Order: sequence, then C-alpha cells, then structure tokens
Amino acid sequence: MTTQTSTSAWALALLRSNSPYGQALEDHCRRLHGFATNLAAQDGVVLDDDLLLAACFLHDIGLCVRDSSSRDYIERGLDFVEARLADSGLGLTAQQEESLVELMRTNHSLLPLRGLSPQAEMLRRAVQVEHSLGFISFGLPAEARAEVFSRFPRANFNQVLLGFFRTALVDDDPRALLHVFLPGGWAQLRAAFTAGHSSHAASTRNLWKSS
Ligand SMILES: [Fe+2]
Repeated sequence: MTTQTSTSAWALALLRSNSPYGQALEDHCRRLHGFATNLAAQDGVVLDDDLLLAACFLHDIGLCVRDSSSRDYIERGLDFVEARLADSGLGLTAQQEESLVELMRTNHSLLPLRGLSPQAEMLRRAVQVEHSLGFISFGLPAEARAEVFSRFPRANFNQVLLGFFRTALVDDDPRALLHVFLPGGWAQLRAAFTAGHSSHAASTRNLWKSS
C-alpha cells in the first residue's frame, strides 16, 4: 500500500532542505497558518487547510533559493515550486494548483485585492498580523493572537528578517518589491483610493508566470 504524501508535508520537506534559517523560519510559517485559520474561523471562511499550510511553508522559499534567474523572490519561489511539483506525485487538481499560486503570489499584498479568494485574503491578513506583532488584528482577539505567538515563539526571527532584507535589497532587484507588496500593480493602488474598484485581481490568472 502506498501512502499519499500530504501537500503540506511535501512543502515542509522542501522548506527544511532549502532554508538556511531553520526553526525560526518554520515557526514564522506556522504562525501565519495559525493566524489565518483563526481569522477564517472568525469570518466563516472555508479553507483547504493542507494547501494553506503548504503555501505558508513555501511563501518565503524564493528568499532561500537562487536556482532561477529571476531577481523577484516571489517569481523565483513560484519557479522553484513549479519545477518540483510535476515530480511530486501529489496530483493536485488544477484548482488546487491555482490556489497555491494565488496564496504564494498575494500574501504580501499591503492592500486588498479585488477578486482575491477568501482563503488568500485570510493569509494576506495573517501576514499583516504577524509583521505588525499583532497590532493589526483584523478583529482577532488579543488572546487568540497571543496564543499563536506563544505556541510558535518569534525567537530569533529578526535575524531571518535581516537575511531577507539583504536578499531582497542587495541580491535581488529592489524594484521587484513593488510587485511583492502591490501584486495588482498601480490599478490596485488606484482602486484603493477610488470608488467603484476598477482594478484587476492579482495576476493569478497567469498562473505560474507573471505578466
Ligand atoms: Fe514571510
């Protein structure tokens, strides 16, 4: 009998074998999953929990690897995952693959994205709870935020962030950060300040490749 590897177990194995940041980065990923699942429960959002956890483990993988020519870590991470997914034996449906791309591409968006799936919005909010040290809550009670931070302590995560800054600002093209934090482009920014929201959703329509 063969055992089906879960997508999150596959993603965790990829993270562990490619990240130089050890437990500190793994726990950052687990905090995101904790915040996202709490936010989803609060807002009644249905999640593909295994896929969400996989996306959490892989969301910063582009900051750990350099086996693609892209100097945009989001795209480099997508290249990395896409190249390994075909041989993974996971058998993701097209919809699951699209969700994984959406989660990986939009989680750092500072502003809401029109058309974003509720699941991806939960992860986008979780990233903001994490990076604001819980000051941004999206309605999540203080006890719930504290519980996640205590279950997966930040420990030396600031060292990880320093490594990330170096990668994004020195090794990569800093201009790519616009795409990281504003994946919907200028239309996303415009839509945030105008009524009617004429922006496009993030470029998940292009699946693995950015337009
Ligand atoms: Fe992150």
